[in-house]
Amino acid sequence: VKVVVFGAGYVGFSTSVLFAQEYPTTVVDVSQEKVETINAGGCPFVDKDYERYRLKACTQLEATQDIDVVDDAAYACIAIPSDYCETLNAYDTSDIKELVLEISQRNQDAVIVIRSTVGVGFTEQISELVENEVVYCPEFLREGSAVRDTFSPDRIVIGGDMDTARRLAESMRSCLDLRTTPVLYATYAEAEAVKLFANAYLAMRVAFFNELDSFALHHDLDAKKIIDGVCLDPRIEQHYNNPSFGFGGYCLPKDTQVLSKVTGLTYGMLIDSITQSNDARKQLIAERIKQLGPKTIGIYRLCMKRGSDNFREAAIIDILRFLHDNGESLVIFEPLASEDTYEGVPVIKDFIRFCDMSDVILANRVDDRIKPFADKVFTRDVFQRD
Ligand SMILES: NC(=O)c1ccc[n+]([C@@H]2O[C@H](COP(=O)([O-])OP(=O)(O)OC[C@H]3O[C@@H](n4cnc5c(N)ncnc54)[C@H](O)[C@@H]3O)[C@@H](O)[C@H]2O)c1
Repeated sequence: VKVVVFGAGYVGFSTSVLFAQEYPTTVVDVSQEKVETINAGGCPFVDKDYERYRLKACTQLEATQDIDVVDDAAYACIAIPSDYCETLNAYDTSDIKELVLEISQRNQDAVIVIRSTVGVGFTEQISELVENEVVYCPEFLREGSAVRDTFSPDRIVIGGDMDTARRLAESMRSCLDLRTTPVLYATYAEAEAVKLFANAYLAMRVAFFNELDSFALHHDLDAKKIIDGVCLDPRIEQHYNNPSFGFGGYCLPKDTQVLSKVTGLTYGMLIDSITQSNDARKQLIAERIKQLGPKTIGIYRLCMKRGSDNFREAAIIDILRFLHDNGESLVIFEPLASEDTYEGVPVIKDFIRFCDMSDVILANRVDDRIKPFADKVFTRDVFQRD
């Protein structure tokens, strides 16, 4: 069995490391830099667990920019981006569609496994255009622990023909060596809906505890006490409840938005209100900072969360834009920013200088570096985790 994975990002690279534990695996990416990193034994993103799986994977894992490798593959997995398109109010899946057609032209025997997040109905439509078996197998990993989450998933969900789905599940489970991982077999649309509702639930939970925290801020109450009191109920549980400046990242905002379009048309308002709640939260944080009347506002880190190595759709960036548009004087401290400015705001490389310049420092998450400057820090990281 030869496996080819398209896309060497969080999902694609983790999937390829997984398959490479058992099968010869090639990951195809348009980025030469990523291909070189992988072929040199590296991980194309920051991941604390990769080292544990690296040695075995490296003997059977290679990367290339060349699509020819799919010609004799048994599985062709697709994990390329599906960005949110504002004009369509849906995912832009044009690249995925093009790739499916190209794979099919080259190799009709390859089982095409879509791992990118797609809208409900997409896999059915695409499967009608090709002779290949197509399955949809969503990924639920978190950036920062992408490899670990792929190696110990809570569940494997596969939509499509039952025999093909069973074969894929067996192939995955032999790599995972986790005979107990539950596998859910479903139709395409059901599997697509699982992915979207799972992320919308997570977004809703973040938005819920942020609304609770906004309430506590408004009434000058201790948010931690209220959350503890609420979450000691075993039906609610003490996890994934730490307030923040808003949910963000690559997946939760776009998946919630796409789902709300579908559910909003027919059934309800809840999913749609999640995005509205998140927008209101960011606005509230920005306005509170303005009310403090600082001469200069410091933005400590643009990353979405602890351990993240990118700024995709981070809530702090919307807050930064709001404050910047309102004429506030801002500075940023972000070691991952390579330029001297970000969206017109100066990036200060020297941490102590950054702290000296800032009258108030916005920190979505508090870490050991910023802790000594607590008297200047504005955060809602009540539990100092997540
Ligand atoms: N990041 C997550 O936490 C996460 C979790 C679950 C699902 N997803 C979904 O998985 C998909 C991929 O997300 P990601 O975060 O891994 O993306 P990413 O941006 O980290 O990686 C995508 C990779 O695909 C490459 N690429 C783009 N077009 C290509 C093509 N035609 N052929 C080969 N390579 C190509 C890019 O160069 C990039 O390296 C998206 O649909 C996303 O919604 C992401």
